[in-house]
Amino acid sequence: MEQAPQQPGPSEIFLLVIDHDGREHALPAIEGWRVMEVIRDWGIGLRATCGGACACAGCHVYVDQPWTARLRPRSAEEEDRLDDAFGVGPTSRLCCQILMSPELSGLRVRLAPGSELE
Ligand code: FES
Repeated sequence: MEQAPQQPGPSEIFLLVIDHDGREHALPAIEGWRVMEVIRDWGIGLRATCGGACACAGCHVYVDQPWTARLRPRSAEEEDRLDDAFGVGPTSRLCCQILMSPELSGLRVRLAPGSELE
């Protein structure tokens, strides 16, 4: 049985994720980890087949609007890979390219269609 993540403590870095079924999860995170790794390691289905090499677009997420300006801009490599993703919009990111930090605690993302486990 899949273990549900514990609720993050008040001083803990955390990530909010809306999964493919529309359920929101508050996931404790570790500074320096990729958002993709946090999501995958808590057992939330995310394709991410390349393991973070920016080569598959299977970690496509939509970032909540207030957070988009607080992220480093997309690299040319990320832009190229997003060209392969489905339903790309202005807030689309590949979450393997976002590193968790205290400044990003509370970041909220929604898993995009096409990033489901196969
Ligand atoms: S995990 Fe493959 S592009 Fe992000």
